[in-house]
Amino acid sequence: MTMRVGVLTGGGDAPGLNAAVCGLGRRLLAAGVELLGFRDGWRGIIADQTRSLQDANFQHLLVHGGTLLGSSGDNPYRKPERDVPKVLDTFRRHRLDALVAIGGEGTLGAADKLWREHRLPVVGVPKTIDNDLEATDFTFGFFSAVEVATRAMDDLRSTADSHGRVMVVECMGRHAGWITAYAGVAAGAEAILVPERPAHLEEVCQNLDRLRQAGATSALVAVAEGCRVHEGGSCLSSMEKDEFGEYKTGGVAQLLARRIQARLGWEARHLVLGHLQRAGKPIAFDRIFALRLGARAARLVLEKRFGFMAAMRAGEIVDVPLADAVKARKVLSDQFLDRYESFFLPIGGL
Ligand code: F6P
Repeated sequence: MTMRVGVLTGGGDAPGLNAAVCGLGRRLLAAGVELLGFRDGWRGIIADQTRSLQDANFQHLLVHGGTLLGSSGDNPYRKPERDVPKVLDTFRRHRLDALVAIGGEGTLGAADKLWREHRLPVVGVPKTIDNDLEATDFTFGFFSAVEVATRAMDDLRSTADSHGRVMVVECMGRHAGWITAYAGVAAGAEAILVPERPAHLEEVCQNLDRLRQAGATSALVAVAEGCRVHEGGSCLSSMEKDEFGEYKTGGVAQLLARRIQARLGWEARHLVLGHLQRAGKPIAFDRIFALRLGARAARLVLEKRFGFMAAMRAGEIVDVPLADAVKARKVLSDQFLDRYESFFLPIGGL
């Protein structure tokens, strides 16, 4: 009997999602498997909203940003009594043999639970521009986002130079400063502030002032949206939490620019790169990387090795238990932060 496989893309989109679907689809269709897409992440399988992929032009799909399946942050474990049975029903109704979940921590966390608690035959593919998933060296979308952020910082350097200003650039990353760190180092930022190393405003200003005394007329400060900047005894960034208990992010660059200008009398401006970091076509590396991960996921499905996820380890595409990917968040290591020590401000006793 023909094997039938479902696929969904969940969470924030990331450049390379379509390439991952492409890698999966090409391998499965070649093996005679029927592939069914679910719309908008877990929402599609909860509500049984599908999109046929049988005649998708995978060759062209590979190039495009976003996700043709749509995405959402919905998750059956927000209301498990109501939604987990719906997921299981939809799976049975379509007589599926496997489900491939492409996503980050939330999407893969649900996949892992469905496998462990209900033996739903799932396979994962990791994605997030934040690169904060364990068990894989990198996630696709990350280097595309770094490219956007680096270019923006490079470009902002010229206007900062023209006006003799400080430019504070806010990158995505609630819990981990991967994008900020890579782009900040690549663009030669004068200061990089990441969640892994909370900063003191006093120190940021002292360092900038030292640079100015040494002759700098402009400066770039790269800051992650989730970075905590302390001023005296309080935290500059918002300590408000959203409905899911996450700190509300966004806005730290503006606060920082205002404080820097007020304290140093050095004109400062800010820019929030926001969703531009997730937008547009993936860079070539992410297309090929995502394609390979998708193909590996197809292999896992064909070999009926469920509860696993395709991953990159030491540059090779391998598979790892889903549980390993979701047990902790991958943050910048002390080794990384120490290697680029001069870019990062000291912890300062926090
Ligand atoms: O997890 C990816 C991410 O891009 C985070 O860096 C960012 O905080 C968040 O998604 C933004 O999500 P939304 O699309 O819901 O605004």
